[in-house]
Amino acid sequence: MLNSKIEFILNNKIISISDLDTNTTVLNFLRNEKNLTGTKEGCASGDCGACTAVVGELKNNKIEYKSINACITFLYTLNGKQLVTVEHLANGSLHPVQKAMIESDGSQCGFCTPGIVMSMYCMYENKVKPTHENIDRYLSGNLCRCTGYNPIKKSIKNMYSYKRNNHDYKKILKLLKGIKKNDIMIENKQSKFYVHHNLKGLIKDYQNKKDSHLLVGGTDLALEVTKKRNNLRNIFYLGANEDLNFIKIEKKRIIIGSATPISDIIPKLNKYYPTFSKMFERYGSEQIRNSASLGGNLGSASPIGDSLPVLIALNSEIVIQGKKARSVSLDDYFISYRNTKLKKNEFIKEIIIPINKKNILKCYKISKRIDDDISSVFMAINANIKNDIFKSLKIVCGGMAEIPKIATQTQNFLINKKFNKENINEAKNIIVQEFNPIDDMRASKEYRSKISQNLLERFWFEKNNINTLVY
Ligand SMILES: Cc1cc2nc3c(=O)[nH]c(=O)nc-3n(C[C@H](O)[C@H](O)[C@H](O)COP(=O)(O)OP(=O)(O)OC[C@H]3O[C@@H](n4cnc5c(N)ncnc54)[C@H](O)[C@@H]3O)c2cc1C
Ligand code: FES
Ligand code: FES
Repeated sequence: MLNSKIEFILNNKIISISDLDTNTTVLNFLRNEKNLTGTKEGCASGDCGACTAVVGELKNNKIEYKSINACITFLYTLNGKQLVTVEHLANGSLHPVQKAMIESDGSQCGFCTPGIVMSMYCMYENKVKPTHENIDRYLSGNLCRCTGYNPIKKSIKNMYSYKRNNHDYKKILKLLKGIKKNDIMIENKQSKFYVHHNLKGLIKDYQNKKDSHLLVGGTDLALEVTKKRNNLRNIFYLGANEDLNFIKIEKKRIIIGSATPISDIIPKLNKYYPTFSKMFERYGSEQIRNSASLGGNLGSASPIGDSLPVLIALNSEIVIQGKKARSVSLDDYFISYRNTKLKKNEFIKEIIIPINKKNILKCYKISKRIDDDISSVFMAINANIKNDIFKSLKIVCGGMAEIPKIATQTQNFLINKKFNKENINEAKNIIVQEFNPIDDMRASKEYRSKISQNLLERFWFEKNNINTLVY
């Protein structure tokens, strides 16, 4: 029997909801239903951070805090979690984050400041060291166009020096533990929202369901609602499914559940593929990485999805689950623009990445901004070079064709050849012939072609520092 309501903690009170539209976002719920208007709407597409809220989840008997974009998070994904909004922080007296913002002149415009405060709150509650790198990471999804970041960064450095006010951590922990994790189906005006906690229930309900949408972070899917004003019927939320949320490291392969958030993948991947892990630090923003999944990137199948060229270059496979499970090499998964081998009522269960410690992996993401930006061009190179000869080589490009595409002719030319300037120059001539990229708002055709050549040259320049983390 499926439950017909969700339960979660809004700030410090447990609430249950069953009667709202299944497409309701957390932002609209806060502002329209609860009059909690401290959480702002700027872009409604996950870009600006004005809507940042924090979600607390039970992990190993502790609460782990993650910042999210409330504008693109669906309300019914909150079951079993704590949602913290900016109104919760001042509890009798100001929170250390708020004190620091005042004392260090970090409070700028009223639109972005609540979201910035929530990113800082998340950092504070997770007890993250205020290093330069960590501060940039936590602020990567909060855009300011009025003043700049220096007073905000100063506030972050100072926030740990203030004493905290009342803290209801133990109370929240107890409440979180008390919420039952039953499977859920909410129905509202012929639309349904499903939450499953294991594969069995999901497979059963997802089969034969027409007009259905899989959902993990919603960082692509929610834009259908917030930007295109579509009504999504039959949403299947995979983010709470324990069989799809895991990272398993075996001797020869890494297996990642399709709904595992990118921010959980980054530290685990670092030991095996540091350049891949480092590239993920530029995947959207902290808020996006806390929600987005590999299953969602593969499901969207955008030619500029950042994980796709790397996964192909690493010879990864995916397990596709329908009534039965089947394995598909990612080399064969993409058919045409956003069209893949995934059939109706199938979903991606897991991603299998072979471990190869002898090869060199380069992940080059070229975008207009470092943080929170989509690639214009992406190139992943996976090479085995012995005595200066390419023994194996895979070059995969994103943003250069309608699907993430292997540079077959270029790599065939280089294989068994010497890794020298002459051969790289010839490869540069081949790669521009091999691709016919499009012009769009991100980059012109000429720019993309030139960049593909430059990246091959960059690979050559990095030859003497082959394990460099430059990406
Ligand atoms: C501000 C912003 C910045 C972004 N930056 C980047 C970036 O730097 N690089 C990048 O690559 N992308 C970026 N994206 C796009 C998006 O974050 C990624 O594609 C992300 O991986 C999608 O994951 P998700 O879990 O949020 O997917 P969702 O939005 O939940 O789903 C996306 C699609 O995949 C389908 N799907 C989900 N799970 C599965 C599954 N298990 N099996 C089959 N289909 C499935 C869904 O039905 C849907 O069609 C950005 C998006 C935003 C809003
Ligand atoms: S309103 Fe801009 S990120 Fe949500
Ligand atoms: S703080 Fe809002 S634009 Fe700068």
